[in-house]
Amino acid sequence: MQTLSSPNSNAAIAYTREDWKQGYESQPQEFDYWIEDIEGEIPAELSGTVFRNGPGLTDINGYRLRHPFDGDGMINSIAIAQGQAYYRNRFVRTEGYLKEQKSGKPEYRGVFGTQKPGGWLANAFDIKLKNIANTHVVYWGGKLLALWEAAQPHRLDPNTLATLGLDNLDGILTKGEPFAAHPKFDANCPTATGKSEERMVTFGVKSGLSSTLRIFEFHPDGTLAKDHRHTVPGFAFLHDFAITPNYCVFVQNPVSFNPLPFVAGFQGAAECIQFNPEAPTKIIVIPRNGQGKVQFFETDPCFVFHHANAFEKDGQLILDSICYNEFPDIGDAKDYSEVDFDHVPASQLWRFTIDLATAKVDVTVPIERYCEFPTIHPGNVGQEYRYLYIGIAHDQTGSAPLQGLIKRDMQTGAEQTWSAAPRGFGGEPLFIAKPNGTAEDDGWVLLWLYNAVGHNTELAIFNAQDITTGPIAKLNLKHHVPYGLHGSFTSQYFGPQQPRE
Ligand code: CO
Repeated sequence: MQTLSSPNSNAAIAYTREDWKQGYESQPQEFDYWIEDIEGEIPAELSGTVFRNGPGLTDINGYRLRHPFDGDGMINSIAIAQGQAYYRNRFVRTEGYLKEQKSGKPEYRGVFGTQKPGGWLANAFDIKLKNIANTHVVYWGGKLLALWEAAQPHRLDPNTLATLGLDNLDGILTKGEPFAAHPKFDANCPTATGKSEERMVTFGVKSGLSSTLRIFEFHPDGTLAKDHRHTVPGFAFLHDFAITPNYCVFVQNPVSFNPLPFVAGFQGAAECIQFNPEAPTKIIVIPRNGQGKVQFFETDPCFVFHHANAFEKDGQLILDSICYNEFPDIGDAKDYSEVDFDHVPASQLWRFTIDLATAKVDVTVPIERYCEFPTIHPGNVGQEYRYLYIGIAHDQTGSAPLQGLIKRDMQTGAEQTWSAAPRGFGGEPLFIAKPNGTAEDDGWVLLWLYNAVGHNTELAIFNAQDITTGPIAKLNLKHHVPYGLHGSFTSQYFGPQQPRE
């Protein structure tokens, strides 16, 4: 428990662990319904479908997972049109989900430390991993794809969320090939004919003593625009990246991987990652045209999952990333719900300014308080930008569950904050631009909230120009959805054909 209040919340305590833990309970049920309980009004111009992925199960028939990141992917969709909203959720019918639902027991080990029952003997030399399809969900080239970075995506029907199966992207991916869960969308990519188009830019990484990075760019119809491979020295844990018009930018964390405890059955693969605070973090810069040399820049030790954005300006490359001072594992806790927040590193927003000519890297810290899951206007991905929205803990110091939202003006440093403390818990915000909007913050910020008061989940819609006032609408679900990971928005409406009377 922390003690702090904010201007928007008079909470004497930020949260209780009991409340927070309940938001991780499994949600085995699948629903379809019009959302009846709406506070405020859904903006009339907001039309399309919000998708979100995350672990739907945090236990398998009562056997608790050590980490929610090991939970089976469940897709949520909310289709919005004419001020109405339709909710649906479905588990991704992966091979592993179907097998375990049938047998009623864990059949796989989790990357984040969940072991099969039976101690190390039952787990030793079992290195097959379950593609749990739980990290992100995007709609591109007419396909809805559930992403998990260590293997191929699963394709779903965007109307029903029914699983259509593993997808190799029309023959582009080989069986089991890694495909990152953090594609970037370049809104205005010049084409050979002098026009511009939106592109999905993403990557896959195979890591060992050296690491091979495959970079893909996809046209709007899902066909391949670019495909190139690069080998970089050392083990590379690359969860996310950033793009600019000319570059793909990665941060290679100073970690090593010792597979022995994993192979021997004592630990999950991610628990065998060792952070080396003496080693520099490397920024890897790869030309998007696939030619030219790969550049490496050394900077202060830190561990990065997510990047907010990158852009080029006056011979410099600017990269904004969410940085931890060490690898954020769960320590000695028996599972994630028992984690000691006092010993979890709190991430901050760092800005790296890389001089491409001199290789000098400057670091500043625009947001010092704990923050995670950044979002910006989609038209500014890879471009100089002004407004960043990101999840925050209620307390301004230390590490704690995410409960709120901050909007940061990267030019002036001005901030707007809002918190759902003491009984509301957040996650990743999502910025949606207003159709025909002109200002960079002309739009809405969506935030999925777990409300411990009613043990249910709500979708909060904020006016992006005024976060402090709080949500302009709240769509209250009839049930809870476990805390999710990443989501996206498409302006296509995938709800029932006719909004109801
Ligand atoms: Co992520």
